[in-house]
Amino acid sequence: MPGSFRVESPSTPDHYRACFRLRWQLLRAPWQQPPGSEQDAHETAAWHRMVLDAHGEVVGYGRLHREQDGTGRIRYMCVMPQWRGRGVGAALLESLEKAARDQGMTRILLDARAPVIGFYLRHGYRDLGPGPLLFGVIAHRRMEKRLDRKCARRRPAPD
Ligand SMILES: CC(C)(COP(=O)(O)OP(=O)(O)OC[C@H]1O[C@@H](n2cnc3c(N)ncnc32)[C@H](O)[C@@H]1OP(=O)(O)O)[C@@H](O)C(=O)NCCC(=O)NCCS
Repeated sequence: MPGSFRVESPSTPDHYRACFRLRWQLLRAPWQQPPGSEQDAHETAAWHRMVLDAHGEVVGYGRLHREQDGTGRIRYMCVMPQWRGRGVGAALLESLEKAARDQGMTRILLDARAPVIGFYLRHGYRDLGPGPLLFGVIAHRRMEKRLDRKCARRRPAPD
């Protein structure tokens, strides 16, 4: 029975190995994609977040990177099946959105797999229309969220 969990940034080679393994296992292997297909050109400049269980096992993962126009892009959100529905995905998304705000990003774009659109709608994302068809079978919707500046420090009003 899953118990407590915590969100952290991976910091060791073992962490990164476990994160990539989870990404491959949940987002690539079921579609017969080879190990390595879960990685892209943004890994070193991205903000990674993992969820650890009480034993230090990685049970969830999500990543943010900055597009050339400054937009934040979230990819590879995934939670182990036995951990779903317990707030792990929400904790990951909130941590990535905080990272985006901290970096001064004001907008996040993502391509959501059709079965999980509701997860993003619940978190304030807007459906912009059809996204890519991954591996010829996985339909996506392009989704957007404008980030408010609630974490930014307010300047005092001039006298
Ligand atoms: C999408 C995913 C990351 C969500 O993670 P999770 O830990 O189950 O999500 P949470 O438990 O934090 O759910 C947060 C809220 O979203 C809702 N939600 C979660 N998955 C949902 C779904 N598929 N459809 C509609 N609502 C959903 C929950 O009911 C919850 O609502 P509440 O706050 O009103 O209770 C997880 O289902 C997953 O890994 N799916 C498979 C991989 C995948 O498709 N990744 C997305 C790629 S774009």
